[in-house]
Parts: sequence; structure tokens; C-alpha cells
Amino acid sequence: MNIYAIILAAGKGTRMKSLDQSHSKVSHPILGMSLVQYVLRALKPIQPTETFAIVGFGGEVTTQLVQDSAKVVWQHEQKGTGHAVQQVAPFLSGKEGTTIVLCGDTPLLTSQTLSSLLDEHIQNKHDLTVLTCIIDQPKGYGRIVRDKKGLVDRIVEQADATLEEQGIREVNTGVYVFNNRLLFEQLVHLSGNNKQGELYLTDVIKMFKNKGYHVGASILPDSREMLGINDRVQLSEATKIMKLRINRDLMLSGVTIEDPDNTYIGPEVVIGQDSVIRPGTRILGKTTLGKANVVGPETSIENTLIGDNNTIVKSQIVDCHIGNDNQIGPFTHLRGHCEIGNKTRVGNFVEMKNGHLYDGVKAAHLTYIGDCTIGENTNIGCGTITANYDGKHKYHTEIGKNVFVGSGSTLIAPITLADNSFVAAGSTLTTDVGEDDLAIARARQENKIGYAKVLKAKINSK
Ligand code: UD1
Ligand code: CA
Repeated sequence: MNIYAIILAAGKGTRMKSLDQSHSKVSHPILGMSLVQYVLRALKPIQPTETFAIVGFGGEVTTQLVQDSAKVVWQHEQKGTGHAVQQVAPFLSGKEGTTIVLCGDTPLLTSQTLSSLLDEHIQNKHDLTVLTCIIDQPKGYGRIVRDKKGLVDRIVEQADATLEEQGIREVNTGVYVFNNRLLFEQLVHLSGNNKQGELYLTDVIKMFKNKGYHVGASILPDSREMLGINDRVQLSEATKIMKLRINRDLMLSGVTIEDPDNTYIGPEVVIGQDSVIRPGTRILGKTTLGKANVVGPETSIENTLIGDNNTIVKSQIVDCHIGNDNQIGPFTHLRGHCEIGNKTRVGNFVEMKNGHLYDGVKAAHLTYIGDCTIGENTNIGCGTITANYDGKHKYHTEIGKNVFVGSGSTLIAPITLADNSFVAAGSTLTTDVGEDDLAIARARQENKIGYAKVLKAKINSK
């Protein structure tokens, strides 16, 4: 049987108070991933035959986020949730199948909830199943009105509810499963005869009832899952819940997280067993960490591939590859496109961009490495700078194996230091150094005997 999914993501999101009018609500991120992508991710295990995302307000941005996993359908004017689903009629009208409808602003819904809702719908041969929830503060949500037999009769929106109806604590989560053909048959009959003048998807419930179709409800036990993001307070609440959910899963899989309240790990991050994550650490994007790494405190890593047994302390790393058994930090900044082998030591205040360190390299303190390759077991002294930029172009520095670069050296690229070469401390190099050669490029020292006394006397007499 065909399963279709429709994600409603065209709404305005006025309460997010964005400066940029094209900044759609569902594009706001939680731990590096947008709200609507969480919804797509929750749908994935269900393997819908086809997924549709309704975009409108800020639709260009939303399209970028969803187009890999969903067919984008535009709703140019936002005339309500029923009107939003009507936009898919050209694709789905008349087709047999089961359609799940959900909102793009509910990132906490889980795959388990969606698949058990689908199962319930199919097993009970329902024509429509609404996911409901019983909550203490139902204000703002559509209320589930049940008949004398306790069966769902209709949904009444907050704006249209009588005082008595407002007292109902069972609410509509905004997730539904429909018999596809019947849904589109009824959708054409919607009218905007309500307080907001909108076409409500929720009115379809009563229409199904009137036709004698089989309508059921499934009650969501954990109300946190239905949290819809309308403002930035709810965004932070959802972030908190998501953060603890991700951290908990990692801990149960064998990762130590010393302070889960204060550790921010994205949904796509993979971390191997016996790794330890210290407080104040953010690991986001498509980052994979192997086994037995110690990361943090206060470390930030994004889109980076990391092997096993590394120690990374108080550092920032973006878009890099790191092997095994390395010691990084504190205060190392790997700014992107760095490749680090095994057993290296990259230390305090070392900044690196576009650098490739082979195994055993040491760059332990106060160094800038840019556009540079460094061979095995080379030692980069404190305060070394690769001068890779002339104000217009970037140039490469090539350093061989077992090279010793003395402290305080400036290597003006393009330049090559061959294997086993030696650079005297304080040198500024502009030409290549051959294999086994020593380079010294600084003024020779001159000591004036006893002259310190003379100089001091001169200064004091002024
Ligand atoms: C809706 C439900 C309400 C439910 C609540 C759950 C209706 C009429 N009401 O109310 O019963 O309790 O969700 O959160 O459906 N959207 C569009 N196009 C539109 C309007 C909305 O795509 O023209 C999208 C929004 O982007 C959003 C979703 O539909 O993702 C829900 O719309 P919203 O305006 O937030 O509906 P609620 O008033 O919260
Ligand atoms: Ca909403």
C-alpha cells in the first residue's frame, strides 16, 4: 500500500520576530539542524512512497532545506491548514493509499510515535486517525470534542470554542492519518466559515463523521513530543528536550557525558564507546568521533571526522579530518580543511587552516599554519608562522619529514623545507632549504663589552 506524507510548512511564524521576512519559522535550527529537517528525519523509517512539503512564507529558504527529501509544493497565500493540504490535490487526488499529515514546526515527534499511529490506523481499518494528547494548559490548541459514546466527533479551534469546550484538555497535536482518497474528496468542501476565516484541516473530521466514515484517535502519552515551536522561548524549550534526548541515547550506548545539561550534541553526530565528553562542549553537524576520545571541556567541533584515542581540550575545530592518538589543545583552532594524521601534538594557541600534518608532527605552541603540508615527525617550534598571503594570493608551504623549525621563525610562502633540514630560531626564510641543510636568516649578534653601564648612565643623565 502507498503511504504518502504531507508536511505543512508554509505558515508565517510571526512570533519568531525575525528581522528578515524571508526567514521561515521551520528553518530555525535546534542543535544545528532545522525544525523541518527533524520532522523529515522522524518520517524516514516509515519510508513514505512520496513526501510533500508545503512551503509559502519564506519558501525559498524552506525549499533549500527540504528538497532532497520531499517534493516541494507552494502555497502562495496562507489561507489555513486545509488550504495547505489542498495544494497537493493535483498529485494525490483520487489515489488509493494512506496519508499522514504533520506540521513542520514539531521537531520532537518521534518515529516510534508516527509508526505506531500508522499501525493503529491500519489495523483498526480507520478512515481517519487523529493523534491527540491530554495536557494541563490546552489554550491555543484545537480541542477534541467526543460524543456520548466517547468517540471523536469533531475538533474545535481555540478561537471558535465555547467556554465549555475551552475546558476540554484533550487537544489536537496536528498529526493525522487519512484514507487518501476520502481526504481529497472531502477537502474540496471546506469553507472558511469560522472566526479566522481560514480553511481548517480540522473541519475534515466532522465531514468524515457525517459521511459515516470510521474516525479514531490515538492518545500521545508524552506531551513533550507535540511541542510546536511558535516563538523563541519554545525554541529553547525544545532545544533542551532534544539535547537531553540525544545525550541520553549516547550515554546508553557507552559514551560518558559528564554534564549532559551543559553539552550540546547534534542529531547526526556519531560518537564511539568509551569516549568522554567534558562540560561546555558543542559537537554539531556531520561529525563522527571514534572510540575512547576525551573531548572538552569547552570544545566546539563541527563537520569533522575523528578517529580513536584523541584528547581534545578547549579547542575549536571545523571541517577537518583527524586520525588516532593525537593531543590537541588547549586553545587550538583548526579553522577548516585540516588533515591531521596520528600521534601528533597540536598545542596552545595553534591556528591552522588548510594544513596537512603527517604522523608524529609536533606544533605545540603559538603557531599559525596555513596552506601547509608537514611531513612525519617534524617539529614546529613555538611562534612559527607560515606567511601564506601577500594580500592578494595564497601560497603553499611544504615542509618535509624530520624537519626542525626553530622558535620564532617566519616561513614566507611559497617555500619548501626538505627532509631533515633545520631552521635556526628567529629566522625569516624566503628561499627553499635543501635536505639535511641548516638555514639561518637573521642578523648576526654583536656583544659590546661593558656597554650596558655606559648606556644606563646616558639614560639617567637625561
Ligand atoms: C493547528 C490546528 C490545531 C492544533 C495545532 C497543533 C488547524 C486549523 N488547527 O493550529 O487544531 O491543535 O495545529 O499544533 O489546523 N500552515 C500552512 N499553511 C497555512 C497555515 C498553516 O502551511 O495556510 C502550517 C504552518 O506552517 C504550521 C502548521 O500548518 O506548520 C500549523 O499551522 P498553525 O497556524 O501553527 O496552526 P495552529 O493554529 O497551531
Ligand atoms: Ca502551531
